[in-house]
Amino acid sequence: MIYKDIRDFPEGFLWGASTSAYQVEGAYNEDGRGLSIQDVIDTHGIADFHVASDHYHRMEEDVDLMGELGLKAYRFSFSWPRISPDGRSINEKGLEFYDRLIEKLTEYHIEPIATLYHFDLPLSLAEKRGWSNKETIDAYVLYARTLFERYKGKIRYWLTINEQNVMINHANAMNGNKGLSKKELYQQNHHMFLAAAKATILCHELRAGMIGPAPNLIAVYPETCAPEDVLAAENWDEIRNGLYLEMAVHGRYSPFVLSYLKEKDAMFDCTKEELEIMKQGTCDFIGVNYYSTATVRRSKGDVSDLMARNGDQQTMVGEIGVYGGSENPYLETSGYGWKIDPVGLRITLRRIYERFHLPLLITENGLGAKDVLEKDGSIHDPYRIEYLKRHIEQLRLVLQDGVDLMGYCPWSFIDLVSTHQGYEKRYGFVYVNRDDQDLKDLARYRKDSFYWYQKLIADNGKEQ
Ligand code: BG6
Repeated sequence: MIYKDIRDFPEGFLWGASTSAYQVEGAYNEDGRGLSIQDVIDTHGIADFHVASDHYHRMEEDVDLMGELGLKAYRFSFSWPRISPDGRSINEKGLEFYDRLIEKLTEYHIEPIATLYHFDLPLSLAEKRGWSNKETIDAYVLYARTLFERYKGKIRYWLTINEQNVMINHANAMNGNKGLSKKELYQQNHHMFLAAAKATILCHELRAGMIGPAPNLIAVYPETCAPEDVLAAENWDEIRNGLYLEMAVHGRYSPFVLSYLKEKDAMFDCTKEELEIMKQGTCDFIGVNYYSTATVRRSKGDVSDLMARNGDQQTMVGEIGVYGGSENPYLETSGYGWKIDPVGLRITLRRIYERFHLPLLITENGLGAKDVLEKDGSIHDPYRIEYLKRHIEQLRLVLQDGVDLMGYCPWSFIDLVSTHQGYEKRYGFVYVNRDDQDLKDLARYRKDSFYWYQKLIADNGKEQ
């Protein structure tokens, strides 16, 4: 659709930025915090999560920078092991950090958007089989209740679980899930769905705000218009995206995915009561983490379906008998192998909105790159500005298409530990002076993209 006139962004659009606790906070063993699964992995020479960007100690300075940037919203995650070190008890000292963070955000009129769980499962729960064990569901609900009760009236937007679909579909790229069988993964998936549904019901009962999931969503394209390729694209789309949205929005399993799981001997155990709970715990909006799109072809039923490389959360995988991974010759690729597809963002958002009719909030989108700190303290990152600009252009069009889009929270507000490349791959508007091996002084520097985004927010998206 080519429009004659493009409307401005609506007043109140949430121009934001995102982070997650274990990737920025550091202070991994302070003030009663327990360990998470992320704290004990061998990072093979890249930065670990013990200090990260030292946000725990520099929170005031960081929020001052958010104020200067003009953010209208800040998406962060609570550190589960900081609040509940052993998955049962509650650590008052940990909560006090977030009291101060939320207070300070409020001073700047920055809307807090809080994720309950972003990859940092408490180690004590992991040692008891983590999400395979139903006790983890109870631990999550207790933790969620603590936060809802404490921050009711202060936090209006909650996200249940970050990228549950990545933890299941790209398990080998995730700390904690490597090597699990498909059956066990889908059992964990079921338990996470149940935990999210219970937290959602609780959030509504306590009138603590609006709540939704934050999956990593991609439009899936067929390699050609041959119906077999289109069908293969639908297979992967439903397994990777549809299942998670169908559950969050309607509290039910997607029929095709159930057939797929039976075919793959990966059907999970569940009870009627659990399915009933899921129907009641449906979300109010959908968080969307968007980085790229995928292209697939029909399955040939043999190993040629598999893309022959190790991957991360955006890598095409392929599955024998279901779909084959393919390439998209029309798209550029980032320095880290991720397809750059701004129009794909419009397609992704439209598909979700037309199927589910709920408000959407972009909870992640951004470009990981090697930034250079110049001698004068400047960081020139025109590639990031270009990336964000092209994606924001599509948001304007998506709004015109009629999608109810609440806001845009790019990844990330500040440099943080990238899940696979540490500090070599940076995303922030704010540079953190450290690298993987050397903590240096952890000082903050504004990148060119900081000033660019500052102006864009001040003009409510007009000036780019
Ligand atoms: C998302 C995750 O998948 O991608 C973030 O929610 C992550 O935690 C982001 O940092 C970027 O990926 P990476 O691997 O470059 O850190």
